[in-house]
Amino acid sequence: MVEPQRRGEPVPEDIGTDDCLTSYTHIYSPDLLKDQVAFITGGGSGIGLRIAEIFMRHGCDTVIASRNLDRLKEAAQKLSAASGRRCIPLCLDVRQPESIAAAVDETLRELGRLDILINNAAGNFLCPADSLSFNGFKTVIEIDTMGTFNTSKVVYEKWFKNHGGNIVNISATLGYRGQGLQVHAGTAKAANDAMTRHLAVEWGPSGVRVNSVAPGPISGTEGFRRLGGLSREADAEFQSIPLQRAGNKTEMAHCTLFLASKASSYVTGSILVADGGSWMTSANDISVLLGFWSSEKKRDK
Ligand code: NAP
Ligand code: COA
Repeated sequence: MVEPQRRGEPVPEDIGTDDCLTSYTHIYSPDLLKDQVAFITGGGSGIGLRIAEIFMRHGCDTVIASRNLDRLKEAAQKLSAASGRRCIPLCLDVRQPESIAAAVDETLRELGRLDILINNAAGNFLCPADSLSFNGFKTVIEIDTMGTFNTSKVVYEKWFKNHGGNIVNISATLGYRGQGLQVHAGTAKAANDAMTRHLAVEWGPSGVRVNSVAPGPISGTEGFRRLGGLSREADAEFQSIPLQRAGNKTEMAHCTLFLASKASSYVTGSILVADGGSWMTSANDISVLLGFWSSEKKRDK
């Protein structure tokens, strides 16, 4: 299909799979993060993987950390091959502070410093509140909210408290208008936005900035697939987004790079909404969402 002519600036390169870009044009100085170290939870897939790649293309070494070590190892090889920088894959569960502490110790042993923490790990699925189990709600809160606190606290105590640093939390706009079938993730991310401000206030004097990026629908991701981004309704939905399209992972990585770098040296406690204006105008129709959810459930049976 021929892409319709777009107005406005060109969209940066991206690909839909968990692979590295085949070409990349720098917007920022290629040395922006030279010899810094970033610890990225959920860095083995989706938005987190692209953040790792873009950071590495700006001179940064990375640790990518999550539960699935095989996938992380594969991703780390691709990332190092594409950028020439070091990437260490480490296994952790953000719900288990001891596993985070072990991964941060290993990072400091191997790379000697830590400059940036990206809290990107999350879990989500579509589910109406009256079908959501108590444990389903709790699980998402534990991964998204407690996981963000656990990782931030471990990194702060082990390094940022005495050296300063930068935290960027990957949030979402789901809670802004009470997005249907998203009470669990919307609640979790709203709490994270509050946490961003609380920690910015408390840790600013230690030289730690804490900010968030709140993506809208981002193509080529698990989040996009799980939340109905590939459905026929989604095509029509894009027309209701002010910028008329889904975002891509490279765009999210550029926003994260801005907040994690000296480009934003006087910014803390802020939430950068990067959704093409979507939360203000997109439909939030419960009957459409329930229809999509039940058809997906039937298909999975
Ligand atoms: P994704 O590829 O599934 O990323 C989530 C990552 O979190 C995975 O790499 C997963 O790795 C890791 N993870 C999950 N549970 C974990 C745990 N308990 N401990 C450690 N790591 C864990 O999905 P994505 O769509 O790129 O999402 C990335 C971030 O963007 C999330 O914070 C999401 O809420 C946010 N976001 C995405 C969209 C979108 O359209 N995609 C929109 C708004 C916000 P393992 O399975 O190896 O643990
Ligand atoms: N709909 C409703 N409830 C669901 C669900 C779904 N699609 N998927 C899981 N749950 C419930 C389970 O039924 C369980 O509750 P129960 O014990 O009352 O039955 C609870 O959530 C925990 O599920 P479990 O599979 O044990 O959790 P987990 O810790 O292994 O996995 C998830 C966490 C559920 C969030 C899983 O989807 C995941 O690992 N996601 C990571 C990737 C992702 O979500 N990417 C998108 C990011 S936006």
